[in-house]
Amino acid sequence: MTEPALLQPLTLRGITLPNRLVVAPMCQYCVTDGMVGDYHLVHLGRFALGGFGLVLVEATGVSADGRISPGDVGLWDDAQVPGLARVAAFLREHGSVPGIQLAHAGGKASTLRPWDGHGPVTAADARPGDEPWTTVSPSGVPMGEGWPAPHPLTVAELADVREAFVAAARRALTAGFQVAEVHAAHGYLLNQFLSPLTNTREDGYGGSLENRMRFPLEVVDAVRAAWPADLPLVVRVSAVDASRDGTTLEDTVAFARELKARGVDAIDVSGGGIGTGWEHPIGYGYQVPYAAAIREQAGIPTMAVGLVVDAHQAEAIVAGGQADLVAVAREAQDDPNFAVHAARELTGGSYDAYPVQAGPRLAGRDRLLQRLGPWTGPDPVRTEQPSTPA
Ligand SMILES: Cc1cc2nc3c(=O)[nH]c(=O)nc-3n(C[C@H](O)[C@H](O)[C@H](O)COP(=O)(O)O)c2cc1C
Repeated sequence: MTEPALLQPLTLRGITLPNRLVVAPMCQYCVTDGMVGDYHLVHLGRFALGGFGLVLVEATGVSADGRISPGDVGLWDDAQVPGLARVAAFLREHGSVPGIQLAHAGGKASTLRPWDGHGPVTAADARPGDEPWTTVSPSGVPMGEGWPAPHPLTVAELADVREAFVAAARRALTAGFQVAEVHAAHGYLLNQFLSPLTNTREDGYGGSLENRMRFPLEVVDAVRAAWPADLPLVVRVSAVDASRDGTTLEDTVAFARELKARGVDAIDVSGGGIGTGWEHPIGYGYQVPYAAAIREQAGIPTMAVGLVVDAHQAEAIVAGGQADLVAVAREAQDDPNFAVHAARELTGGSYDAYPVQAGPRLAGRDRLLQRLGPWTGPDPVRTEQPSTPA
């Protein structure tokens, strides 16, 4: 049997990911003041035990006003480092590379936790202690009907945001993370600069694609300079806006070329976040073609994401050269062991990829189960005499 492409290591700068499966960043909206605790250790730790090569911590606010919701993780304060350091140490100890997504939500900040409702927090529906805050964006365009108009960032304030990304990257390094991902997707602040739908500035940061890319590239330059030369930097992009009138794949290929020239090591290719509904094809692996186009046309490694649900599907993406990495979000929530299950499925049933605490015992049970055949019920007990009686 040929070695599955999905299980091959990938070296980016000084870091070798043990395989190509990644846990995509997933907001959990359940911390206070940005400080992670036991929940995140367990939530993320199980993905290391589940065999993922890279585990990306959710969108982590580089400033308090950059959080999507009051329950977001943050790295705007040194006090937030120890909780994340525990997570990073656990991931490393158990074979995953720890990564973290650095984010500013811009005009899409100050929103309700999803289970409290949708859209911006208002004084009327804020939980006690969760005051809504003034959001910021390139041009003050509201993010949708019923959303407040954000404050348009001045050039001096842009420098503050850029420095907040740098300071958060430094804290991420102190916490022990080995991959940093800058969030420039899903309609959040950097995506708001890139999209003509949300960036109507008339200064050097708006108008042409070159101008719309300027601030995101300044952020990436500054983070790259602060992030060690032997550690990889990834940028998550929305290859296309949800609306067909916004950012195009061609725009994003041009952005990816600029990112590559600035020392970005891989593009995490997502989509959407600006516009009312997704106006592009939807289905299994629906964003993979974008990852493939960016990989080919910008000549940079890509991570594909979006409705990848099956080991063979993930293997086909990497083996077919459409992306170098495959990230899963909802599938990992459903099956935190997705990566070891995939390894087993692609290697004829071997438990080798499992943690030592589990693999050999499961292999032993498997031999017994194979002899017994499937349990068919209805009687819960079906035994046979030992082949070598005591
Ligand atoms: C619960 C949840 C939280 C998410 N939070 C983030 C996030 O923090 N940052 C981000 O870039 N994408 C976030 N996403 C999007 C996922 O990373 C991923 O791109 C998307 O769910 C598609 O992948 P999937 O089909 O494997 O779920 C989130 C998705 C889910 C389901």
